[in-house]
Amino acid sequence: MTNIAILGSTGSIGRSSLEVIERFPGRFRVTTLTAHRNIDLLREQVACFRPDTVVVSDERTAEALRHHVNGHTAVLTGDDGLIEAVTRPEVDVVVSALVGFAGLTPTLRAIEAGKDIALANKETLVVAGDLIMRAVREHGVRLLPVDSEHSAILQCLQGEDAKGVSRLILTASGGPFRDMPWEHFSGITPAQALAHPTWRMGSKITIDSATLMNKGLEVIEAYWLFGLPADRIEVVVHPQSIIHSLVEFVDGSIKAQLGIPDMKIPIQYALTFPERGPSVSKRLDLVSLGTMTFFPPDMERFRCLGLAYQALRAGGTAPAVLNAANEVAVQLFLAEKISFQDIPGIIEDALAGHTPLMEATLEDLVRIDTQTRTAVHQRRAVVE
Ligand SMILES: NC(=O)c1ccc[n+]([C@@H]2O[C@H](COP(=O)([O-])OP(=O)(O)OC[C@H]3O[C@@H](n4cnc5c(N)ncnc54)[C@H](OP(=O)(O)O)[C@@H]3O)[C@@H](O)[C@H]2O)c1
Repeated sequence: MTNIAILGSTGSIGRSSLEVIERFPGRFRVTTLTAHRNIDLLREQVACFRPDTVVVSDERTAEALRHHVNGHTAVLTGDDGLIEAVTRPEVDVVVSALVGFAGLTPTLRAIEAGKDIALANKETLVVAGDLIMRAVREHGVRLLPVDSEHSAILQCLQGEDAKGVSRLILTASGGPFRDMPWEHFSGITPAQALAHPTWRMGSKITIDSATLMNKGLEVIEAYWLFGLPADRIEVVVHPQSIIHSLVEFVDGSIKAQLGIPDMKIPIQYALTFPERGPSVSKRLDLVSLGTMTFFPPDMERFRCLGLAYQALRAGGTAPAVLNAANEVAVQLFLAEKISFQDIPGIIEDALAGHTPLMEATLEDLVRIDTQTRTAVHQRRAVVE
């Protein structure tokens, strides 16, 4: 029996993870569930999975929750609660599915406590790839990607010698504005940006998909997971989201992983790796699919992708600045305080004002994240 803690159980990845776990009753047990705001759903999940521990963000919510859970489940709060929950001895695997920078510290502490990680929270590797990969090696844990693109690459690499790999090719749906002329970008509303054509996801990653920042974050994630330099990690737009990514080898052969766009497939692969288990997800019907198409990304209309490559090449803490500025910009856009077109400019300004620090500690990264967020808000205040 593998004991699983789910960070962010009320989110899109958290809910899909629980659906996967339910299908393997003798194999997986849920020890830990965590939520931020969606306490009603958390209560339902507690009743269904009877975890040892739940974590919520504040004490008032925790107090209310304690009246609903029986004595079997401990209710913890805040960042300390997240860290305590994931480092408990009974936990074997942590599904890291918080959104944004909030996922970094609990994921790092879980690795240091010797837990295997199923990583959805790509921001953890974007912000602290060096720190995380060193901790993974030092503590001998397994860090398996949940992101469908990186799961696809992992699957393509099975049985292959790393020396034989020439390129990684990440596919991107292109988002809802793939074919929209630049002149119309100024009128994009949050509701339009939240309507992703192929995937149903949380709001932050959906906006990142619309700007192509999500693909930029994934390029940085691939760099850390698979150890190839930026110029050997490419992006191709594939609107059908059927090929989840590809690996090209030195002999010119390309391996791809295909499937319907359903996150339960890569989540299950991360949890059962290296085995495969039966799945009730729909099957891909190639004949009814008929056609698959591919385009180069438009780096002029979607400048966030180029900014992510720029941050990766700058190295050190540059990707942490990219991430912090992007998180603030996405929040401001969702709150209708800035336009969709403003997002790349905010990130570009933040990167321009930063001299990267190499081999940063967690404390350095927390400080730089906070400084960047403050600077972005201050700059916005001046503009307004
Ligand atoms: N969704 C996908 O298909 C997908 C695919 C690949 C990778 N990912 C990555 O997986 C991660 C999660 O994405 P998602 O789409 O599942 O996000 P989501 O639906 O927004 O869920 C985020 C989860 O984190 C919790 N949370 C949010 N802010 C928090 C905070 N400050 N402290 C503690 N908990 C917090 C939320 O709690 P409440 O719901 O209670 O507020 C929720 O449980 C992201 O890094 C994303 O890039 C997602």
